[in-house]
Amino acid sequence: MNFAERMQVLELTGHNLDIVPGKHIELDLQTDSLMHQSLSVVGYESSPKQGSESVNPEQIFSKNFGFPYVMAVSQGRLAEAILSHAIIRNGHYIPGSALFPTTRIHQERNGGTSVEVMCSESLDITSSYPFKGNIDVNALERAINTYHSTWIPYICIEPCNNAVGGHPMSLENMRSVAELARHYQIPIYLDACRIVDNALMIQERELGYQNTPVDEIIREFCSYAEGCTMSATKDFPTPIGGFLAVRDPKLFHRCLDYLILFGAGLSCNGKEIIARAIIDMDRVYSLVRRRINLVKKLHSTLENHQNLVQPAGGHGVFINISAEDLDIPDTHHPAQAFLYQLFKDYGIRGSLNPSSPTQIANKICLVRFAIPILGLEEQAIDKTADGISNLLTAKNTIQGLKLVDKGSGLTGFLRAQYQPMDRVSIN
Ligand SMILES: Cc1ncc(COP(=O)(O)O)c(C=O)c1O
Repeated sequence: MNFAERMQVLELTGHNLDIVPGKHIELDLQTDSLMHQSLSVVGYESSPKQGSESVNPEQIFSKNFGFPYVMAVSQGRLAEAILSHAIIRNGHYIPGSALFPTTRIHQERNGGTSVEVMCSESLDITSSYPFKGNIDVNALERAINTYHSTWIPYICIEPCNNAVGGHPMSLENMRSVAELARHYQIPIYLDACRIVDNALMIQERELGYQNTPVDEIIREFCSYAEGCTMSATKDFPTPIGGFLAVRDPKLFHRCLDYLILFGAGLSCNGKEIIARAIIDMDRVYSLVRRRINLVKKLHSTLENHQNLVQPAGGHGVFINISAEDLDIPDTHHPAQAFLYQLFKDYGIRGSLNPSSPTQIANKICLVRFAIPILGLEEQAIDKTADGISNLLTAKNTIQGLKLVDKGSGLTGFLRAQYQPMDRVSIN
């Protein structure tokens, strides 16, 4: 597709890059989710080999992650909806990581308030602290004292934290959080969406874990939690699926009731697909390790740009975009304008990473170039690096976007309509 064809497509989608169909995108780094990939990219044989036994995803998950009660669900967000519905009541507070929007919104819709106690290094994009997914344990204790443990149904931890740039949480930090949680008798639940990336980065970066097998790191990490929700489509070769896993049988049975009420959304085939995706953990580790290396490669080619989030994370490269930096007003949507121009000029799609409340307060606005574990070759990374680098060098040419219709509701951004504007400098 050339520039003129891309402009035509943008006209048809109201200049909303988020909704341009994937077939029009040459280099698509909008998401690392395999949900929009076909089964052939994911490498799944649609009919299992004759005579092969069918496999049970819940049993395999339980064995790999150490939680005794597991239900396979259609998506991670269904697991979040069920868990939040089962344990959050009006007036509850849930301290922990800066969460993915679906996780936080499910908590809020059930009457809870999420309280972000991420480490201060995660708010400094130039800091190359290796564990920016860590929790500030003192801030966590202050939150527990402020809201009182009886109003805190659980602490929610998202290792390899997407909001702050795909950064890992160390086992040392997880142990300190668990100790505090035990002291105040508050359970911990994980959003384990990218727990494999987290474990691989612990193996690479945390003192004393270089020779510890990844399985052991994962199991130790999970041993501090009472349960987890997981979207399986990021770290595992599957286009569908997620899990909810807990240790308490009574809670499990309550969650099973909600699963039946809300709808599991998984056919027998669906269960078979996710079972086969999680059965071969060595393959999973090598796919995720390859992705971490691709991220490093893309990150290192952009190293000399000051707004690159440091250091390289697990599943994507993140860049902070501000009005001052592009020298266009905030009302002209600098981050969207940057992504828009990158697609228009180079056919590359990234996405706006939803900012957490603390990031909004600190004026952090990240764009993300996410790398799926399958479907993106090394060559694509080189081309992506060239395009992003060229645009960052010419950022004073970026034109703003006018929001003509913001769309209603939580998903309004999917219907939003923009209009390209002439460049206006802030000064
Ligand atoms: C960290 C995190 N948690 C939860 C989810 C929701 O998972 P799903 O898309 O499977 O519903 C996502 C999806 O991108 C995610 O990145």
